[in-house]
Amino acid sequence: MCGIIGYIGERQAHPILLGCLKRLEYRGYDSCGIAIAGNSINVYKNTVRAEELRKAAPQLDGTLGIGHTRWATHGQPSQANAHPHCDCDGKIAVVHNGIITNFQGLKQKLIHEGHKFISETDTEIIPHLIEKYYRGDLERAVEAALDDIEGSYAIIVLMASEDKLVAARKDSPLIIGLGDRENFIASDVPAILDYTNRVIYLEEGDMGVVTKDNIKIRRDGIEINREEHKISWSVDEAQRGGYEHFMLKEIHEQPRVIRDTLVGRVSVAEPTVDLAAMRDKGIESMLILACGTSYHAALTGKYIIEELLRIPVRVELASEFICYGQTLTGTEAIVITQSGETADILRAMRRLKEVGCQVLAITNVVGSTASRIADQTIYTRAGPEISVAATKSFMAQLMVLYWLIMSYSKVDSRRLASMLLALRQMPSKVQQVLNNGYKILEHANNLSGYDNVFFIARGINFPIALEGALKLKEISYIHAEGYAAGELKHGPFALLRSDTPVIAIVAQDNTYEAMLTNIREIKARSSPVIALAEEGDEVIGGLVDSVITVPQVDAIFSPVVNTVALQLLAYYTAKQRGCPIDFPRNLAKSVTVE
Ligand code: M6R
Repeated sequence: MCGIIGYIGERQAHPILLGCLKRLEYRGYDSCGIAIAGNSINVYKNTVRAEELRKAAPQLDGTLGIGHTRWATHGQPSQANAHPHCDCDGKIAVVHNGIITNFQGLKQKLIHEGHKFISETDTEIIPHLIEKYYRGDLERAVEAALDDIEGSYAIIVLMASEDKLVAARKDSPLIIGLGDRENFIASDVPAILDYTNRVIYLEEGDMGVVTKDNIKIRRDGIEINREEHKISWSVDEAQRGGYEHFMLKEIHEQPRVIRDTLVGRVSVAEPTVDLAAMRDKGIESMLILACGTSYHAALTGKYIIEELLRIPVRVELASEFICYGQTLTGTEAIVITQSGETADILRAMRRLKEVGCQVLAITNVVGSTASRIADQTIYTRAGPEISVAATKSFMAQLMVLYWLIMSYSKVDSRRLASMLLALRQMPSKVQQVLNNGYKILEHANNLSGYDNVFFIARGINFPIALEGALKLKEISYIHAEGYAAGELKHGPFALLRSDTPVIAIVAQDNTYEAMLTNIREIKARSSPVIALAEEGDEVIGGLVDSVITVPQVDAIFSPVVNTVALQLLAYYTAKQRGCPIDFPRNLAKSVTVE
């Protein structure tokens, strides 16, 4: 996820673009840059945030320009990889938000045709394709270039000889801001709110051609009209996308995060997994290390791996990992870390390297320390997560784990095909949970009056019970414990009373009957039970006090929908209790001390 901005008007573009980029930093901040057109195009970019760019950049003259703030997906944060990107002659500059999945093939072809590339990004092919197709008509050249591209994009194109900006979108948002003898293009409303509150939302497949006094919107070559909207949000509200908190916004981003994380890796249209990733290195076991929410993703991964690959998996808290030098030959070592900067993870990784182990990192931050220590890195593509409570980054970790495990050749091909079909439905299943969020609100209002809560589950949903409890305690300050349902009777039963509610995750898998038994045992001790159960479960309602329903999914994907429901439950409970949801007391987003 990146932020993009374009300006055309009568004022100097330079300070306006930098001001807009500052407003877009919540979308990415590992590098940023601007390009301004005069007789030629002048570009200034670096691995800094907008404020430092403002101090360092020479004054670039011109009233027409574009800017970008980056959250890397292809290539490390570096000056070369920062946007804008240009064609060979430096006459066309492009900023892009999205992921181009077929860029490798296109790049090879362009290199063969004589184009020179200086970055590792997918984006750089766009100005080269436009250069290739340009015959005096910029819109046509952009259309031709986009015809070659697969994946998602929101782009703004600037050309030295043209007094206009051309913008286009597919699966990434883009708006046009309307000013007085000036206009703006941006990935998001907050970018432009200091200048105008009049916007047009571009729709899928739209192309916008913007001059200082005119807007033209084309679709399939035909000119169309789009309605103008007045925005009444403050910049702050707009950055949260109109949601009250970043956490709620990030929970709602999860259908997009699932798509972005899988795009180019798993074909959701055809039942295939990226064959380049096919792995079968004679791995006999796996060791996965992580902390906090990432540890819960690792534990979920253990269940998936053991079911599909039938190899033993050891999952350890990175903070507890001690390696006395025992041989780890035949073991695939994986670390999972959203930030890539967690001190406990980095220490454990260094220890693994000392004993000669190759390490695979799964992280959300390109260029993070974990990615630099690791031998191999897989990025989760969740975009920046602002709320301290991890939500969408956990979802992206789960998706990477599903993909990674499915790419081992040991997985039975029939099972693989059915899983791929199920995976294809995950964004809409998650969307269904989100659409029913208002029903969870009522449960949250009840829960908010309690001081202690248990979350229980069995099998693959046990880690989700741990995650549900962690989310609730970290943002609502209610004491919550996640437990394996079969373990309550080994001690915690002593705590069960009518003021100790239990949230029971009841999946339609081979744990179902045992879960019902455990729920009956709990009810006999008078604790209120809220079940999280699949739609169509006719039995559960008769056993418990209330039910939160989630859509039916293949049992191996039940953690996905259950997680989202529990995130909403934690969120609404914390809201009811008036807690500072995005920034809970005593917690930091990235824990850089051991
Ligand atoms: O960046 P990491 O994934 O390594 O962070 C690990 C934990 O600090 C993190 O998941 C923490 O538990 C979250 N606040 C949970 O919401």
